[in-house]
Order: sequence, then C-alpha cells, then structure tokens
Amino acid sequence: MSNDYSPRPEHKFSFGLWTVGWLGIDPFGVATREPMDPVHAVERLASLGAWGVSFHDDDLIPFGADDAERSNRIAAFRKALDASGLVVPMATTNLFTHPVFKDGAFTANDRDIRRFALRKVLRNLDLAAELGAKTYVLWGGREGSESPVAKDVRAALDRYAEGLNVLCAYVREQGYDIRFAIEPKPNEPRGDILLPTIGHALAFITELADPEIVGLNPEVGHEQMAGLSVVHGYAQALWHGKLFHLDLNGQTGPRYDQDLRFGNGDVKSAFLLVDLLEGAGYDGARHFDFKPARTEDEDGVWAAAAGCMKNYLIFKERAAAFRADPEVAAALAATRVAELSEPTLAAGESLTALRTEEFDPEAAAKRGKGVELLDQLALEHLFGVR
Ligand code: GCO
Ligand code: MN
Ligand code: MN
Repeated sequence: MSNDYSPRPEHKFSFGLWTVGWLGIDPFGVATREPMDPVHAVERLASLGAWGVSFHDDDLIPFGADDAERSNRIAAFRKALDASGLVVPMATTNLFTHPVFKDGAFTANDRDIRRFALRKVLRNLDLAAELGAKTYVLWGGREGSESPVAKDVRAALDRYAEGLNVLCAYVREQGYDIRFAIEPKPNEPRGDILLPTIGHALAFITELADPEIVGLNPEVGHEQMAGLSVVHGYAQALWHGKLFHLDLNGQTGPRYDQDLRFGNGDVKSAFLLVDLLEGAGYDGARHFDFKPARTEDEDGVWAAAAGCMKNYLIFKERAAAFRADPEVAAALAATRVAELSEPTLAAGESLTALRTEEFDPEAAAKRGKGVELLDQLALEHLFGVR
C-alpha cells in the first residue's frame, strides 16, 4: 500500500468557490463563518494541490454590482488564477438565491423573469468562455413546485428546453468551446424539482435541438436523496456518453441534501464510484461540491477540502489494489462478470439456433453466483486489510 495521497494538478481536483466559501447558513441558523475572498480561496486551493476552481456568477461578482466593481473583481480573480496556476474548468449561474427566482428561472410562470434568467446566464457564459471553462453547469434548483397545481409541468419542460436551445445556439454562434451539463436533483430547495434524477435528465436531453453539447453533472448525494444507486446512475450516464462533469460529495440515504465531505456518508458507494470512474477512463474534472460542516472554523474548511482529495486518492489506490488481486480475479470469474460483455447472440446467429438450443433451467438455477465472496473482498480492500 503506497502512502502518497498528495493531490497534484494532474489528478484534476476542482472545487466550487461556494463550497469552501460556504458561510454555514442553514434553515435554522445564521452564518458560523466569515465570507471568504475568492482570491484567498484560489490561493489556498492551489496550495493544497487542487487543479481547478469553479464559480457561480454571484460567487465572484455580487448580484447587482456595477460595471466597475465587476471588472475589478474579475481582474483580481484572474490575477490569482495566473499566479497560482489554477484553471477554471467549469462555471455556472446562480438562478436560485435572489427572491426573483422564487418560482423558478427558465421555468418561472412569469415570462419577464424567464427573460431575465436567460440574460443572466448569457452574461456569465461570456465570462466562462473568457476564463477558459469547457463546461457550463445548469442546476435548476428553483425549477419546480411545492404544488403541481400551480405549475403546468409540460409547459415548464417546453420552456426549459427552449432556454437550453437558446443557450446552445448562442454557444455555437460564438464558437465557444463549451458544453452544458445539467445537474439533476429530486428536491430542495423546491418541494419537487424538474429533472429530478439522472434518468429524467437523460430523457430530456434527447428532446433538445442540439443534444450533442448537452450532458450531465450528476451529484453523488442527489441520486442518494432519491434513494437511487449512485454507481448505476453514473454508469448509465457514461454509457450514454453524457458524463460531462460531476459533483462529488457524501450523503447518508434519502434525507435533506447533506453535501458531506467526499468519503463521509456512504463510503462503499464512494469507493465503487471511484472504481467505476477510474476503470472507465473518465478524464474530466474531479469536482467536489460539498459543504464543510457548520461546526468548523476556516482550518476545518481546509481540512475538509484536503480530506475530499485525499479520500479520492485512497479510493483510487484501493480500487487498483482490488482489481490487481488474483483472488478478486478468481472471484470475478466465478461471478461471470466478464461474460456479460459477450453479446447474447453470436454475430449472424439465427433465431432458429437460439430457439432450438438445449438448456437445463433447473441446473442453471442451482448455480450460486458468488457475489457474497466478491463483495467481501471489495470491502476488505476498502478497509485496507488486504
Ligand atoms: C445544490 C447544488 C448546487 C449546484 C451548484 C452548481 O444542491 O446546492 O448541488 O451546489 O451544484 O449550484 O450548479
Ligand atoms: Mn447537493
Ligand atoms: Mn451540486
């Protein structure tokens, strides 16, 4: 077991400004930490070994700032990026904090609000392109309802698609090297959010005018909030060629959005997710979208950020050890995992051959599948005892 879990830029770890900058405000309590200057966040993240930083427009430029303030803030951020070597792989828009978005942005019933939301995204898209971002995330936290009686869901999906079509056309027209990534979430802050899961979002993308440049930014905790398997969801996103970006964090089952440090919460799923990503050759950002616990001061924030990256590297090493273990290879063979990659019909095989084949279902039904042993080996590798 190697002990070098030091993050380096080639690991492609990135953090949202809003993660380390989270003030600790929750529905029951006020801030427990001071606001963090984005320049400071960039410097500290770089010194911890991160590769990138992402932002919402409002994380960088306060809502309603005038042009002079906007330019100053952008200039300071750029200077910090240049000095630290941190890149901006992704940017996004805050379409949820200001009360104007209380009934949604792209899918607000009020048309003037939808038009304002589009303007806000277009403006930040220009900045994203300027800063070299290749992914633009769309998390529609306010797109939804507390009561479907007040939301025509089919019309809302028309407007959602319209919004995306406008953005895709704009990116093509400007020649920006940017793809969009939809982030599904079942609920919170709305009672029910549109595009609640990976599956819903994948189906929605097929209805768009330019589906090629729209993919997903799935978040670990969001699938778990819906009681779904993170590994199955991410694997399906990969299968569709739609895993454009991701939000890594932790969650303990279906409850409020915990945004725990990556590795906290459902450790086994986190381990198997890293095994999936590394095995599939995913080469995008390893982006953390977590909230350092409200109990922490700034030292705790950096401990949590460092922990996210270290845990990823530990899982990666444990997954490699699991895959290299001859006992695991034997257990995998016993479960016939590789056989699933073999097509059910041979090339050119006739259905007559299939239909006349001899098969003893009773004998096949008696075969044990060997999953318990394999799963135990996976846990032992995760626990570090093998
Ligand atoms: C959440 C979301 C957000 C988004 C972010 C980027 O549940 O709060 O995960 O953190 O990821 O707004 O779009
Ligand atoms: Mn979340
Ligand atoms: Mn997220």
